[in-house]
Amino acid sequence: MQALRSSILHCLVDPGAESRSDTFEYFDDGVLIIDNGSVVAAGDAASLLNQLPANTKVEDYRGKLIVPGLIDCHVHFPQLDIIGSFGAQLLDWLNQYAFPVEEKFADPEHAREVAGAFVDELLRNGTTTAMVFGTVHAHSADAIFEAAEARDMRLIAGKVLMDSNCPEALRDDPESGYAESKALIERWHGKGRLGYAITPRFALTSSPEQLTAAGRLAREYPDVWIHTHLAENMEEVEEIARLFPDNRSYMDVYDEFGLLRERAVFAHCLHMDDEDRGLMARKGGAAAFCPTSNLFLGSGLFDLAAIRAAGIRCGLGTDVGGGTSLSLLNTASEAYKVLHLQDQPLQAMRALYLATLGAAEALYLDDKIGNFEKGKEADFVVLDFEGSSLTARRTAAADTIEEKLFALMTLADDRNIHSTWVHGVEQTC
Ligand code: GUN
Ligand code: ZN
Repeated sequence: MQALRSSILHCLVDPGAESRSDTFEYFDDGVLIIDNGSVVAAGDAASLLNQLPANTKVEDYRGKLIVPGLIDCHVHFPQLDIIGSFGAQLLDWLNQYAFPVEEKFADPEHAREVAGAFVDELLRNGTTTAMVFGTVHAHSADAIFEAAEARDMRLIAGKVLMDSNCPEALRDDPESGYAESKALIERWHGKGRLGYAITPRFALTSSPEQLTAAGRLAREYPDVWIHTHLAENMEEVEEIARLFPDNRSYMDVYDEFGLLRERAVFAHCLHMDDEDRGLMARKGGAAAFCPTSNLFLGSGLFDLAAIRAAGIRCGLGTDVGGGTSLSLLNTASEAYKVLHLQDQPLQAMRALYLATLGAAEALYLDDKIGNFEKGKEADFVVLDFEGSSLTARRTAAADTIEEKLFALMTLADDRNIHSTWVHGVEQTC
C-alpha cells in the first residue's frame, strides 16, 4: 500500500454548464491511497492518515494537485511528425501531409520508433489513456500496442481501413482489411489493459464493401471499439452526400453499415443536425471534441451544449497531427475559446470532466478509469502549479480551486506536469 499527500481533485459526474459544487470532490490537504495499481481511497488527510497501516509510505506532494490521468479520445500516432503543417483544410491537408507521412509506416522499424516516442509524449503531458489511429499497415497497430503494453497503459488502437480515394500505397481491400483487423483483435483486444478499435478512416476512404465488412466485424465483436471521423469539414460533408445519395446524412451512412453503436467514437461531429444527434445518442455513439484541430484546419466550432443536450457522451481529443498539441490542458484551453465564441464559456471543472471522467464515459471505460472511486485503476497526474514562474505567480494570486485550475489550464505546458502515474507506478519518460 502507498499514499500520496497532496491537494486532490476529481469529478463525480458532469459538472454541467454551471459547474455545481456537488459534482466534484476537492481535498485541499488530501491523501490518495493506492494498492496493487488500484485506488483504495481519496479523501482528507485529517481522516485518512491515521487509518493507514503503520509501515505505509506516504509521499509528500503538498502544494501540488493530483487529478485523474488525462484521457485523449482521438489522436493519430503516425502524424506526430507533421504537427503544425501550414495552410490547408482537411482534404488538401490529408493529401499534402497526412498520407505522405503515413506511407513511411510501411517500414515496421519506423512504426516502432514513432510509437515509442508518441507514448512517451503522452505521458510527458499527463495523458494515461488514448484512443489512437494507426496507419493502414497492420504492424502499425502492433507497434502502438507494444509501446503501451511495455508501459502498462490502458490504450485503445486499431489499424486504419482505407480502400478508396487515397494513394495506392495506403490501400487495403475489404477482405484484407477485415482479415487483418480480425487477427489484430484476436492478438490484442483484452490483453492486459489494451483494447482494439475497428478503424475505418472515414466514409470517404472506404468503399461500401469495406464499410459492410467493418460492420460485420463490429457485429462479430460487440465489445471492441469503433473509431472514425464524422462531419468535420463542409467539403467532406458535401462529398459524402454525393457518394451516398440515398442516405439522409453522414451519420446515417455509418448507421446503415452497423457502425453506430455503443463503443463507437466519432471525432469532430461539427456539421450535424438535431436528428443526427438524437440518433447518435439513442445508439450510444460518442463524440470526441478536438478544438485545436478544428481551429487549425479551419473546420468549424463544436457545439457542446447541443451534443450534451442530446445526451451524447463526449470527451476531449487532441487529434494530433491535425491538432496542434498533445496536452489535454492546452486542448481544454482551446475548448474554452471555441465555446466562448458560441456563448458557452467552459468552466474549469467541466473542462477537467471532459479530459477525465467524461472521456472515460465516451470510451465506455468509466467503470475502470476517470476518477478516484475506490477500486478504479490508479492512473493519475501530479500537477505542479509552480512549473513555470508565470503559473506560480498566477495561481498564487487565485482564491479558489476553480480559479487556480482555470489559470493552470490556460497557461500550462509540460513543465506543469510534475509526474504521471500509470496503474500505480510513476513513469519516467
Ligand atoms: N478525416 C479523415 N482522416 C483524418 C485525419 O487523419 N485527420 C483529421 N483531422 N481528419 C480526418
Ligand atoms: Zn483525426
